[in-house]
Order: sequence, then C-alpha cells, then structure tokens
Amino acid sequence: MIVMLCENCHTSDTLTDITKTPKNATEVRERGWSVLIEIHNFVSLEIYNSKSMKIITVAHQKGGVGKTTLALNLAACFAQGLRVGILDTDVQGSLSGIKDDLDSIIFVPFDGQLSRLIEQPFDILIIDTPPYLTNQLPDLFAVSDFVLVPSKVGFFDVMAIKATIEFLKQAEQKRPQLKYGVVLNMVKPRTALNRSVQEILNDYGATLLTTTISDRVSYTRSALTSGVFGSDDEKAKEEVTGLADEILTVLGL
Ligand SMILES: Nc1ncnc2c1ncn2[C@@H]1O[C@H](COP(=O)(O)OP(=O)(O)OP(=O)(O)O)[C@@H](O)[C@H]1O
Ligand SMILES: [Mg+2]
Repeated sequence: MIVMLCENCHTSDTLTDITKTPKNATEVRERGWSVLIEIHNFVSLEIYNSKSMKIITVAHQKGGVGKTTLALNLAACFAQGLRVGILDTDVQGSLSGIKDDLDSIIFVPFDGQLSRLIEQPFDILIIDTPPYLTNQLPDLFAVSDFVLVPSKVGFFDVMAIKATIEFLKQAEQKRPQLKYGVVLNMVKPRTALNRSVQEILNDYGATLLTTTISDRVSYTRSALTSGVFGSDDEKAKEEVTGLADEILTVLGL
C-alpha cells in the first residue's frame, strides 16, 4: 500500500483506506513504516514493510498488446511517491527514446547482467520486454516478483497467452513467491467480458486482474505526456492507479 498523508489537515483524497492511516510522521514511525520523502504538506511513505526492491516485469510474447504503454504508465504512477527504475530490454525500445522526458523515472541500461538488477537502488523496478525475447524470459521471470501479462479482449488474443503462462508456471516452480496476473487492455466501452475468455484463462491457470484498462486516446498519447498522469484524463489515471494498487495488493504490500 502506498500512503500519502497530509500532515496539517489530516485528510487526503489519495488514501485507499483513511481509517487505517497514521495521522502524522511520528505515528508512521511507531508503526514501523518509514517516511520516504516530504513534499509540501504531504508525507509519502515507503511501501509498508518494504525491505527490498520489487521487480515488476511486463511480458507477453504477442506484439502490440500494450506492454510498453502499461510499463510506462505504471512507472509514472509509482514514481509519484517511490524511487522507480525502468529497464527496457527491447534493443530498439520505444521507452529508451522518451527517457529524457521522464525526470522522475531512472532508466536502467540493459547489459544482459540480470543479477545486477537485484542490486539497484529502487523501491520498484519495472522491466518492459519485447515480444521476441523468448530465450530470456525464464531468466527475467526468475528475478521478478510480479509479471504483468497484458492482453486484448479478443478470443485469439487471449489464446495467445498460453505460451507466456507456461513460462510463468515453470518459473513459479523455482520461485514460489513469483506472482503474475493478466490485465485486459484496450477494452472498448460496453464490452462485456466474454465467458469463454474467462474460461480460457481459467484453463490456463492464469489469474485475471480485476482492473481493466480501457481503449483511450490518452494512453496512445502517454509517451508524449510522460504517462497519463501528464494528461487530464482522470478515468485513465484512476485505471492505472487501480492497476498499481492491485499489483501491490497481490504482492502483499
Ligand atoms: N489502453 C490503450 N488505449 C489505446 N491505445 C493503446 C492502449 N494500450 C496501448 N495502446 C496503443 O497500442 C499500440 C501498441 O502498444 P504498445 O507499444 O504498448 O504494445 P507492446 O505490447 O509494447 O508492443 P510490442 O510487442 O511491439 O513491444 C500503441 O500504439 C499504443 O499507443
Ligand atoms: Mg513494447
């Protein structure tokens, strides 16, 4: 859980559950949490019980499902209160092209040395993967805490998840704490989730996250606006924040 706390007014509209929220920095420390940074009146708290960096990898061997878009937006969301790094494993990566526009996110160069990733000085490291990186996916999953698998809602799009889920199940055997979930992306208005889509995911043993990401122009433009948080699309901000929260909850944070 990320908590933003207003020291003076004791209220905040960013809180998930205000009743459980400490009222000041002293109470924060008494609960064993630590103050990460103070901006204006707001105290941003380090993730509850966070002892080490969490690695969130965005992967799906199908192209164009929104991996890069969601990696960027999640990074922008977490960067509002946490130290966030982003690693673009795509050699022709689109993220590398926009890194100069994103002050709050540190871009980690990819040199193929995965063991070094674990030593990075971040709260959260987000790894974006290209569709062709099949050989390296098991190694990336082996260092990840959470793998996000974006998918479009179409029948064939969901069918294509199977290969990635197989990799995840193998990785899970070696790393039982690994969590993963499928997020439906580019969902059009009034799209009811097709029962067969849900059944396919169940058959594959893939968990479907509750948050869905709609098809919105603000996502298409998010590379230009440093994520949807640089736009005025409140619904998109809500969706990304919901996704970020859900991932943290799955991670037990
Ligand atoms: N929720 C969304 N709403 C509207 N457009 C979206 C959304 N998510 C992604 N897009 C658009 O879909 C296209 C593909 O997205 P993106 O590049 O993030 O996919 P990808 O999975 O990273 O692709 P690749 O596999 O080629 O790396 C982009 O033009 C992006 O702007
Ligand atoms: Mg991409």
